[in-house]
Amino acid sequence: MTTLVTTVTETLRYRGKIGQWSWVLHRVSGLGTLLFLILHVIDTSWAAFAPDLYAEAIDQYQSPLFTIGEFILIACVVYHAYNGLRIILFDYKPEWWKHQQRAANIVFATTAITLIPVFAIMLNHVLEFYEDDPELASFSSIVEMQSKFLLGFIAIIVAALVLSALYGVISRSRSGFNLPSRAEATLWSFMRLSGVLILPLVFGHLAMMHVIQGVFDITGAGIQVVGTDIVNESGHAVEFVGARWNMLLAGVAIWRVYDGLLLALVVLHGFNGLRYVVNDYAHPPLVNRALNWAIVFGAVALIVVGAWALLAGVDETAYEIAEDIVLH
Ligand code: HEM
Ligand code: HEM
Repeated sequence: MTTLVTTVTETLRYRGKIGQWSWVLHRVSGLGTLLFLILHVIDTSWAAFAPDLYAEAIDQYQSPLFTIGEFILIACVVYHAYNGLRIILFDYKPEWWKHQQRAANIVFATTAITLIPVFAIMLNHVLEFYEDDPELASFSSIVEMQSKFLLGFIAIIVAALVLSALYGVISRSRSGFNLPSRAEATLWSFMRLSGVLILPLVFGHLAMMHVIQGVFDITGAGIQVVGTDIVNESGHAVEFVGARWNMLLAGVAIWRVYDGLLLALVVLHGFNGLRYVVNDYAHPPLVNRALNWAIVFGAVALIVVGAWALLAGVDETAYEIAEDIVLH
């Protein structure tokens, strides 16, 4: 906790030092994207397991609150990706260190250059949606759904703290969660490799969901679903996901394979990044162990849920359930 306070106060004190701001922004953007990812993988799995809840989740994604969040999310992903590339480049080219300052400025500039046209296109999608005076998800329904996620996070952390305390009593262990140094070195390399692999996958996913089509097209009746030759006849969100996951190219369900790769890489990268942050701030062994266990549990659970949904797919029954849902 003291370390966290020091980080905040020192960052403010060294105002203007670009390297410090880059470090903070990289951390905050990575954590912000991870928070979204956790909700997003659970939401998406509902397309397969609970079509009514998926319809409700997408309805909330189309509300003004989430639209603001969508712009922030895109900014986080783009900045984190470019800054991640900068970190990787300098790790392998230490002789370029003298150019750090200029590189950090280039990252800010390329982020801005990317975001200006992307935001303009996204804004256009938003304005087109509001032209039809749509009915929007209420604030109370958003609070109700999101507070269940919050309760879930709290329950996992409390359970991990209790287990860690019990473990401490039984084993008399006074150490936190430590990995062998070889494993740490492998994870360090994995963060770099996965970052490079994630970049085209995430940018491709975001281009399809925010630029080529918008979040609002997920419920567009009669619209051809992005990346497929299938039309979303009903305009239900589950039919959109069904079309994507059922699209075959040379007999291969390409978007399921794509989503599976994206899922594995971003979850492992994001949760290992979260582990670095936890280990920087949570030093007492009981808390450190508990949070690390919660991270391992969270990563495994998310991969299982996401992969299960991809394997189960979305079938006609889900479309029929979606037909009967009346929102608002
Ligand atoms: C508001 C922004 C986003 C929207 C509207 C969106 C939309 C979707 C949709 C409709 C699907 C269902 C399958 C498909 O069409 O491919 C999906 C799946 C997925 N998305 Fe996104 N996406 C967004 C942002 C992101 C970001 C930033 C990431 C990564 C950090 C991401 C990672 C994934 C993954 C891993 C899956 C597969 C989930 C599973 O296996 O159940 N998405 N997304
Ligand atoms: C788009 C391509 C991406 C690239 C090139 C990239 C690159 C990197 C790099 C190089 C690091 C530093 C690792 C270290 O200190 O050893 C990192 C950290 C991190 N990344 Fe990513 N990343 C990407 C996407 C993502 C996504 C989608 C998420 C969220 C799901 C994420 C979450 C994190 C977190 C939480 C950290 C830890 C931050 C810290 O220690 O301060 N990254 N990333």
